[in-house]
Amino acid sequence: MSQVFVYHTPELVPDAGRPDCAVVVDVLRATTTMATALQAGAEAVQVFSDLQQLLDVSATWPDSKRLRVGERGGRVVEGFDMGNSPLDCTPACVGGKRLFMSTTNGTRSLARVQASPAVVTAALVNRQAVVDWLVARRPAVIWIVGSGWEGSYSLEDTVCAGAILASLETTWGIPASELTANDEAVAALALFQQAHTNLLQLLHQASHGRRLLGLGYDADLKYCAQLDSIPVVPQQREPGVLVLNP
Ligand code: MLT
Repeated sequence: MSQVFVYHTPELVPDAGRPDCAVVVDVLRATTTMATALQAGAEAVQVFSDLQQLLDVSATWPDSKRLRVGERGGRVVEGFDMGNSPLDCTPACVGGKRLFMSTTNGTRSLARVQASPAVVTAALVNRQAVVDWLVARRPAVIWIVGSGWEGSYSLEDTVCAGAILASLETTWGIPASELTANDEAVAALALFQQAHTNLLQLLHQASHGRRLLGLGYDADLKYCAQLDSIPVVPQQREPGVLVLNP
């Protein structure tokens, strides 16, 4: 039987122990963008917490085969090819290229759990694909790690953790009460059960959702709220490198 722990931010992930599988969530917008880019044909997404390290590593890549994706505070980092909008990840833009990505929070969450035996990324858009992947493998201990915002709780990442738990219960046929391993997991499920009929409304209520609305990213929120719309599972092939088929 799997035990599912939810941690709202990378800072809350315990220093001791590690899961059989870590599921990293950053609904607005890093893990939504990763799923979208890989489905659109990107060769890989390589994530960095540090912008200078991203620039140094990506400089070794042919510029026709790379895109530098930089976001801080919801805005595009100056000098980068693009920010972190999933709507920019069209096949024409990303097809065959490696995305070298650094975002405010999502890439830090991945760094926090990259030593786990298995790491996948989830968002509302690829929730069911991730659940099907988990059910097929049945890891004994699963950590769902939200990204939050600079160490603070985020509604959107927690509701996604709840969405995963709700679907694990129905897809696996196991009562959620036998899956949830900490209070945060129980609360995440309750949040999804309360909000699932209008996830876009919840994204509009979320603090980072409001920040993105203030920057004109209304269409991004609408896209990020589309539950189960992308059937892909980004998987870590090597530390910091996510692909569809490792
Ligand atoms: C993050 O890393 O916190 C998000 O991806 C930021 C964003 O893209 O708005």
